Amino acid sequence: KRVYAFILAAGSSERFGMDIPKQYVRISGKTVLEHTLEVFENNEFIDEIYLIVNPQHRDLVEEIMVRNFFKKVSKILNGGKTRQESTKVAISALEDLDSYVLVHDAVRPFVSHRIINAVLDKLKEFESVDVAIPATDTIIKVSQNLISEVPNRHELMLGQTPQGFRAGVLKKAYEIFDRNPIAATDDCTLVLKYNLGRVYVVEGERFNIKITYPEDLYLVDKIFQVRTA
Ligand code: C5P
Repeated sequence: KRVYAFILAAGSSERFGMDIPKQYVRISGKTVLEHTLEVFENNEFIDEIYLIVNPQHRDLVEEIMVRNFFKKVSKILNGGKTRQESTKVAISALEDLDSYVLVHDAVRPFVSHRIINAVLDKLKEFESVDVAIPATDTIIKVSQNLISEVPNRHELMLGQTPQGFRAGVLKKAYEIFDRNPIAATDDCTLVLKYNLGRVYVVEGERFNIKITYPEDLYLVDKIFQVRTA
């Protein structure tokens, strides 16, 4: 089957607090987005990449496309207001529904080939696949500054991306989403909430961080040094 990677880069980085969104910040000479695109471009199983961007940042995207030759980037699409709207744009643009889709946060530049390959491998068996790492902190549910619940840590994991889907399942999730939208921070949540089957979880990596806050950039620099050493 053909494999498509949707790279979601249309966020505006509200929590980041810099004038430039985090996917366009440079680390080791390249933007975060370029590092992320490189991994998918170089992965042997990826056939095409759809890049989802914010129309306000088209000039930054153009610069990146001029500086690099990403032969797998076949579509550059304008995303929506939320992450879900951005995924919806990408899945709506996909015609080949007998394919595999990976949905990845552009702000996770340290995704490894091992993770990508593990997700794709499990898609042969499961229709949806998530990536997660064990929770090392105790995670508490809070309501108005009071703890409402402390779930058992051994059952909790922290979700990462890429999340993988048989294209038809993701398409269906977003058709239902259109009629019956729910707020979710990732795509596997939709599959579960709309009862579209089981979601298998493969082990992620602690280095596969999502750059969210400015101080994450210190970690990013360090991880780069370790990974290229
Ligand atoms: O906002 P959050 O941290 O969940 O964003 C995760 C990824 O989704 C980021 O790479 C961001 O650029 C992308 N995103 C998007 N469209 C949005 C919001 C977020 O493509 N409207």
